[in-house]
Amino acid sequence: MRIVVNVFHANLLDSRVNRALADAARGAGAVVRDMYDLYPDDNIDIAAEHAVCESADVLVFQHPMYWYGAPYLMKKWIDTVLTHGWAYGPSYALEGKPFLQAVSLGAGEHEYAPTGSRKYHGPEFLKPFERTAAFCKMPHSSFLRYGAGYAAEDEIGMWAGEYVSWLLSKDHLASNS
Ligand SMILES: Cc1cc2nc3c(=O)[nH]c(=O)nc-3n(C[C@H](O)[C@H](O)[C@H](O)COP(=O)(O)O)c2cc1C
Repeated sequence: MRIVVNVFHANLLDSRVNRALADAARGAGAVVRDMYDLYPDDNIDIAAEHAVCESADVLVFQHPMYWYGAPYLMKKWIDTVLTHGWAYGPSYALEGKPFLQAVSLGAGEHEYAPTGSRKYHGPEFLKPFERTAAFCKMPHSSFLRYGAGYAAEDEIGMWAGEYVSWLLSKDHLASNS
């Protein structure tokens, strides 16, 4: 199974969480791509991305939560790569392929609640992505880790192990919506 992990982090070298997750995924045999490094001028090669997507069995979008959404390059990737006639429309190139989303959230889980400062639960902020995946007939599943801004090293190490188990799990294949 070819798992392609597209990592969207504006500065992966300074990252603690996403770097650890990316390293773990690579160690487990996934193809890990640092998208900001690949496209420093934001000029996404659409044909190349289509080829990568078509070669993958599972597509993973890994990123920190930025302003209750994804870093801008991931939004640009979605806007430009998921083209009409390829990702949706008369044909659906990625139909049935899992669209997995792994997100680190700086704030704690207690903040992501109606009683907390972030007001809504974490998965609610992923609804546009879940709907985007559904539009392309891709099952969506997510992996969220809270408190990424202050997590201790051993906790991050535990998340990395959980991430690999999740990536290799077959459960997300059934969670179409
Ligand atoms: C521009 C920017 C926006 C951010 N917005 C949020 C946010 O909306 N919610 C949140 O919980 N954390 C937010 N954070 C914190 C990051 O999510 C957090 O630092 C990151 O997940 C830690 O992962 P890393 O070690 O891989 O960098 C933001 C950070 C930056 C730099």
